[in-house]
Formats: sequence, C-alpha cells, structure tokens
Amino acid sequence: IELRIMDKHHIVTCTAPVNIAVIKYWGKRNEDLILPINSSLSVTLHQDQLKTTTTVATSKSFEQDQIWLNGKEEDITHPRLQACLREIQRLARKRRKDGSSGLDSAGLPHKVHICSVNNFPTAAGLASSAAGFACLVFSLARVYGVEGELSAIARQGSGSACRSMYGGFVQWIMGQKSDGKDSIAQQVAPETHWPELRILVLVASAERKPIGSTSGMQTSVETSCLLKHRADVVVPGRMEEMIQAVRNKDFPVFAELTMKDSNQFHATCLDTYPPIFYLNSVSQMVINLVHRYNSFYKETRAAYSFDAGPNAVIFTLAQHIPELVGVIQHFISFFPPESNGEEVSRSVCCLSEELKQGVGVEPLPKGIKYIISTQVGPGPCFVEDSTQHLLSSDGLPLKTA
Ligand code: DP6
Repeated sequence: IELRIMDKHHIVTCTAPVNIAVIKYWGKRNEDLILPINSSLSVTLHQDQLKTTTTVATSKSFEQDQIWLNGKEEDITHPRLQACLREIQRLARKRRKDGSSGLDSAGLPHKVHICSVNNFPTAAGLASSAAGFACLVFSLARVYGVEGELSAIARQGSGSACRSMYGGFVQWIMGQKSDGKDSIAQQVAPETHWPELRILVLVASAERKPIGSTSGMQTSVETSCLLKHRADVVVPGRMEEMIQAVRNKDFPVFAELTMKDSNQFHATCLDTYPPIFYLNSVSQMVINLVHRYNSFYKETRAAYSFDAGPNAVIFTLAQHIPELVGVIQHFISFFPPESNGEEVSRSVCCLSEELKQGVGVEPLPKGIKYIISTQVGPGPCFVEDSTQHLLSSDGLPLKTA
C-alpha cells in the first residue's frame, strides 16, 4: 500500500476577507479577462466575522484535480477557476525555469485538491465570490511558491476578488492595457488607519435570489447610457475624492460619497433595460432611516451601501454603534433567538422618545434576519496551525469542511 503522506509544503491553508465597495465596480470592457469600465474602491471587512478558509494540496497520488466548496464537490472545469489555476501554474513554471524560485514548486506536475468553506451561511446572501477567489489565488500561490502581484490573477476569478487581496482600504485601478496587466488592486490605507470606523451588515430576510452581478452588469453595459456616463465622467472624480476622504478620515465626506455611489449604481440598474431591482422595501427603509437619523443630529453619522442584493451595509463610527443598532432594531429588525443578532440586540441602548419621534418613520418589523457588526480588517492570511487544514492527508475533505 502506497503511503500518502504529503510534505508539509504541499498542503497549505489560508484565509481571505470579504470586501464592500464604496465606489462600485459595475461593467466590464473585457469579459474574459474581467477588465472593468471604471476603477473602484472598497473596505476590507474583518475576518473575525466574515472569511473564507481554503486548503490546497498537491500530491503524486491524486488522480485528478478536485474542488469542494462548503462541503459539496463542485465542477473543477469552471472557466474562471481554470483561469486562476492556469495563471498561478504558469508563474510557477516561469520561476522554476528562471531558477528564481527558492521556494517550492515541486508540486507542479501533480494534481491539486482544493477545499474551501465560509464562516458565514451561504444563505445570508453575502457575496462570497470575492473572498473565495482571493483565498484560492492566495493559497495556490503559496503551495506553488509564487510571489508578487497576485491581484490581477484573483481578478480573473471575480472582479471584486482582486480587492480582497489586501486589507484596509483598497482601490482597483481599471488600467489601460488590453492584456489587463495594469488592472490591479492597490492598498490606499492599511487596516490600522481608521480604527474608529465600524461596519454593520444587515442581513435581509430571505427572498428570491436576485439576478447575478456578472449577467446584470453585462446587460447594463449593453443598454444603460447612464452607466457609460457614470464610468466615464462621474467615477474618475469620485475616486480622487474618496481616496482623500479615507486619507483624512473625514467621515461626513466618506459617508456622503458612499451613499451617492450606491444610489448611482442602483440608478444604473434601473436604467438597464429590462431594469434590474436589487433594493426592496427593507432596503428603502434603511435608506430613509439613515437619512432621518443623520438629519436628526444635523450631522452625517451613518452611511448605507447596497450591492447586487437587498442586504444593507452601514458605515458609522464606534461611538454611534449602540444607538444606531437600537434605531435599526426599533424600526426594522427582528432577531430570532438563535441568530447571532442576539448578541448585538442584547447590548442595545434605550432610545430617547425624542429620537424615535425625530426619525419618525413607520416601523417595519421582521425586515432583517440578523446584524453582523464588524470593522476594517487585514488581507489574506497564511494559517500556520496544521490542525486547521480542511483536507486530510489523503487529500479528502475533513468533516469540518
Ligand atoms: C455590485 O465581482 O461579483 O458587488 O466580476 O462578474 O465576478 P464578476 O462580478 P462581481 O461584481 C461585484 C459587483 C458589486 C460592486 C463591487 O463589489 O464593486
């Protein structure tokens, strides 16, 4: 019987974060290479609350490439997956040929097994492709001993994934080249830069699955002249302003740009033909609530942002968290006892009658399943502890995976 013991260098586990765009990416100029029609900027969320973990192993004894996602075997021939695999393996071969690799590329001729899990429920409807592809590319690079600019590879898995290759505040520069070599992510500020910034993810009560971002943005590019105007005229200036707001830790400017950009993205969805609706009545409620909360204090204390689904993401500063959670809970949310929203709701502060009156909207209970309270976090991490691998020494998913 052949002993299937893998060298420790041929099994690697890494984690990668989710990111939320405050200047949105919507629309490609090249579908195959995933080149965007505008630059974008995001905040990397902390992995304590939201992350993907991926184990990659190579072994002479593996008969075929295989992938398992959240406990289920998936199709390894998926073109975007193949693009990431191919690009990393190409770099590994190049390094080996150049003799520049002091690192381990010995796994190259062997088949690869990949196992990936999220620490948040898929049903939460949180975009997991960004964290997933970032984690895949980061882990593959480690297993094959590849270093350097990896965001252009993660981009080929999912556009927004390139921004999950860094922590803190990250821009995806659209680039000019047709081969996409300059369409890369860059850190604008590290995760330690603005420690007071907080993010609440309001997980909307499950509804029909909305139209996916890949096909949604394709239709928008084909039909929306508002999208063209946005990409050509609006976003370039907004990117500059947003980078400045982040550098200055200017919450009111950051918040206003974030809300306006989310609104414009959803306006381009409505301008798409046939139109695409991602916001529902709960999302509209959140939008109203935030504006009324800000006007009550005559100060921008909170901002919302929505992606290709009804979940709201709220940005605020640490000092406002208890009250803001109280407002959300009073006007829209419903936490079933088993949800992790309980943790947040127990710490809710009492709202003044004046604030309740001041916000003055008709409560809409049961709109939110739970709230994830998080902050800005680091980029992908290598997991040292070998007991954390998701694949056994036979290269098969462990129970925890
Ligand atoms: C609304 O990165 O999921 O979240 O590149 O086709 O995989 P593909 O699309 P994806 O689009 C994300 C769109 C967005 C905005 C953003 O994250 O910038």
